Amino acid sequence: MSNQPSEKRDTFASSLGILLAMTGSAVGLGNLWRFPYLVGENGGAAFILVYLLFVVFICLPIMMCEFILGRRSQANAFGAFKKLAPGTPWKHVGMLSVLAAAFILSFYSVVGGWSIKYLVMACGLKFTSPEGILSETMFNSFVTSTWPPIIYTLIFLACSGIIIVAGVKNGIEKFTKSLMPVLFVLMVILAVRSMTLPGSGEGVRYLFKPDFSKFTAASGIAALGQAFFSLSLGCGTILTYASYVSRSENIVKCSAQTTLLDTLFALIAGCAIMPAVFAYGISPGQGPGLVFVTLPAIFSELPAGGFAAIIFFVSLFLAALTSAISLLEVVIAFLIEECKLRRPTAVAVSMSVFVVLAVLCSLSQGVLSHVKIFSLNIFDLFDYVSANVLMTFGALFAVIFVGHKLKREDIEDELSSGGRYRLPKGFASALYFIIRWAAPVVIIGLLVAGLIS
Ligand code: PFF
Repeated sequence: MSNQPSEKRDTFASSLGILLAMTGSAVGLGNLWRFPYLVGENGGAAFILVYLLFVVFICLPIMMCEFILGRRSQANAFGAFKKLAPGTPWKHVGMLSVLAAAFILSFYSVVGGWSIKYLVMACGLKFTSPEGILSETMFNSFVTSTWPPIIYTLIFLACSGIIIVAGVKNGIEKFTKSLMPVLFVLMVILAVRSMTLPGSGEGVRYLFKPDFSKFTAASGIAALGQAFFSLSLGCGTILTYASYVSRSENIVKCSAQTTLLDTLFALIAGCAIMPAVFAYGISPGQGPGLVFVTLPAIFSELPAGGFAAIIFFVSLFLAALTSAISLLEVVIAFLIEECKLRRPTAVAVSMSVFVVLAVLCSLSQGVLSHVKIFSLNIFDLFDYVSANVLMTFGALFAVIFVGHKLKREDIEDELSSGGRYRLPKGFASALYFIIRWAAPVVIIGLLVAGLIS
């Protein structure tokens, strides 16, 4: 191959390590912060039901496509297309994913920084008295201030950088393998606490009993967009992680398990948040402030709420961090393999760019809030462009490439890991149909709807 990386390619050491790294990428602010408030705004279980359908029939096949691209090429998001379709413009498609990852990481680290600030406050037992009721004012004055959110954002970025410098096996895999089980246990403790509060039954019913009267077309679009975001599709993260996976791993099983675990985490987060919201008589449709405004107010009233607050914000921080490192790795793999940088240099170079972008995102909540592009501030612009344009195009091109450019035998060869695993009867044909036709049509629909709205 003409384009050899400047250092030997790192790989994951174990199947569990791969699964937990993939799950670590998928489980993040999307599960703990976005999913519960979207459920709250869009009719509870009705939203969850549609979300699950999209996850199984559209997103899981897309994840398999990204898996195929990464594992077959053993290259970064840009290099994968270059290797699999040499001499064609397809490589530029990979660039979309690298850009999407960079844009997401820029605003994601700001919210990751907020989670550290709230964790610090929780550890200082700030959420143990009803002063939590002032939390909206507190949240607004914090995010619109200049230095504090920047400092927390930089701490968050530094944590991501330190893990990534250590590499795939010694950084990403070690870190996610030990922390994902901790995250799971913490979330389950919180969910049990929340579901055993007096009056929480209504919240549980809200989560599990569909009410289609609040479910609109916009809710459907939100469900699909959330499924994409939550499963980290279209940003090259799955592709990049898959490129560190050996030929003997089972792609179908790993994608299905990652999807299942991500969905489980989202549901557990819903169970941790909604019952408490209902138990305290708060409306579920609180929007993005749910986690940073509503929850602290609830913690302040809860018996042993200070402890619950610590558990929650540790979880939020860990979930955000394991996703951030996957976004960072997309850019690092690109810099190492395409620009021939050594890993530490690639981390240093990318960090200097991310510091600037993340600081701009943070300032756009306060002193730079007047700077609007297409009537969006910088933070919202990055969010919009990455989620509604770059990620969606990234995923669209990935499925089109796999469905229409790769040979069906090659796809089946990857799915069965060179014949090691037997695919269930009819599985390959159904999947091939979804990849070739159903998924592209649905993604184009999402793109058009996103652009119109
Ligand atoms: N899946 C992450 C979440 O739910 O928070 C966000 C994310 C990570 C999106 C990595 C995209 C990505 F490539």
